[in-house]
Amino acid sequence: MPTVAPDPTAETRARIDGDGAWARLCRHAADAPAPDPLFDRHDADREAAEMLDLYGPFLADAGPRPLVFAHLGQSLDGRIATDAGESTYITCAANLDHLHRMRALACAVVVGAGTVRHDDPRLTVRRVPGRHPMRVVIDTERRLDERYRLFRDGETETVLLCAEDRQDGERIGDARILGVPRRGETIDYAAVVAVLAGLGCRRVFVEGGGVTVSRFLAEGCLDRLQIAVAPMILGSGRPALSLAPLTNLSEALRPPTRIFRMGDDVLFDCDVRRSG
Ligand SMILES: NC(=O)c1ccc[n+]([C@@H]2O[C@H](COP(=O)([O-])OP(=O)(O)OC[C@H]3O[C@@H](n4cnc5c(N)ncnc54)[C@H](OP(=O)(O)O)[C@@H]3O)[C@@H](O)[C@H]2O)c1
Repeated sequence: MPTVAPDPTAETRARIDGDGAWARLCRHAADAPAPDPLFDRHDADREAAEMLDLYGPFLADAGPRPLVFAHLGQSLDGRIATDAGESTYITCAANLDHLHRMRALACAVVVGAGTVRHDDPRLTVRRVPGRHPMRVVIDTERRLDERYRLFRDGETETVLLCAEDRQDGERIGDARILGVPRRGETIDYAAVVAVLAGLGCRRVFVEGGGVTVSRFLAEGCLDRLQIAVAPMILGSGRPALSLAPLTNLSEALRPPTRIFRMGDDVLFDCDVRRSG
């Protein structure tokens, strides 16, 4: 997970902003529900056009329910962290900038309790210009305590979602606690999306870890999934996606996918709603 960004140089700022394209996308994100037309593509230079290609789908109006998208940064062998939970950094600086852009476009950024426990993340937008999203932690069994930064730093609104039967109060530190119905062994992910819609979220960014992203995907609650692959081999560690075993390859998801180069990494942007 990213840590505090160094003060960017003028050159970094220009790259990050794509000649003003990023600032304009942010304004459109704030003006949704219908950010259309974004701006005249013919006026955009190459860098700005690339930014529009990458981020345009995340500004689409998803209709009555939020657009839900996720990102995982993994090694060539599909790991997002070592067994001990270390994940800083698997992907390169360009991908970390991208991660912060995805946060800035989102109304809410969601992580699992395992990520909070290992990384103590802030989940704010620091590497690029943009607004901090609301932070949402899924802690089904209500095992986290209030020592973690996002429950105490007051940087932006924070919500902890747990199983209804585990809700033991209204607050943890500065954060609100909300109960969500269970579904089987875990929380009902469709209900999580409904709760976030009820809080006014139109775009929900699930930032990890692998268990949480896998559950959103398995429950049919993801619209888009981004996987950034870094040229690194861990050989062991925490898996990116873990879904129910398949017998036949014909059962595999084969989503329409766009591919972007990010420094040394390759980003696969998958339209999982259209996986067939
Ligand atoms: N490379 C990346 O893109 C990326 C992104 C985010 C995180 N990470 C790394 O991924 C790892 C975390 O991901 P993950 O897939 O293991 O989990 P996760 O999706 O962050 O969180 C869900 C898992 O954590 C468990 N959990 C909940 N509370 C816990 C507690 N107090 N102690 C221990 N486990 C708890 C949950 O169990 P229950 O369901 O029983 O509650 C569930 O298995 C960290 O090492 C983090 O650094 C990498």
